[in-house]
Amino acid sequence: MKKQALLELAHQARTYAYAPYSHFQVGAALLAKSGNVYTGCNIENAAYTPGNCAERTAFFKAISEGEREFTAIAIVGGPEGKQPDGICPPCGVCRQVMMEFCDPELFEIVLEDSGKEMRTFLLKEILPYGFGPDNLI
Ligand code: THU
Repeated sequence: MKKQALLELAHQARTYAYAPYSHFQVGAALLAKSGNVYTGCNIENAAYTPGNCAERTAFFKAISEGEREFTAIAIVGGPEGKQPDGICPPCGVCRQVMMEFCDPELFEIVLEDSGKEMRTFLLKEILPYGFGPDNLI
């Protein structure tokens, strides 16, 4: 799957965002090594803290269906009612979840900047010196 196609799936997933409190809608599309893609949106809650980011929605869907290895995730986000304009970088908690299941040297985070310009980062770039499963061995 091409990165541009993954971004398109993230845009589609964003249309399902449930964000009545922040009015900030995020979509993600996670590519597993199997070739399967798992999408996610942010899901907020009246009690605030139970809310979940789009990225973790995608990861937890994938993990709960047996996937364990991943190649890339595309993320788009922006205010409700507008097309995203600028990158939506994943929050620290989502970066940590990526660290659990992804090789920081290889896993790609695909974002979209203003003008639909694609920007790709490795997990090790956005989470330097991350703590992961290898640290417990
Ligand atoms: N959010 C995400 O879903 N992913 C990100 O990368 C950044 C933030 C969500 C959480 C919350 O529902 C809303 O965006 C505003 O922070």
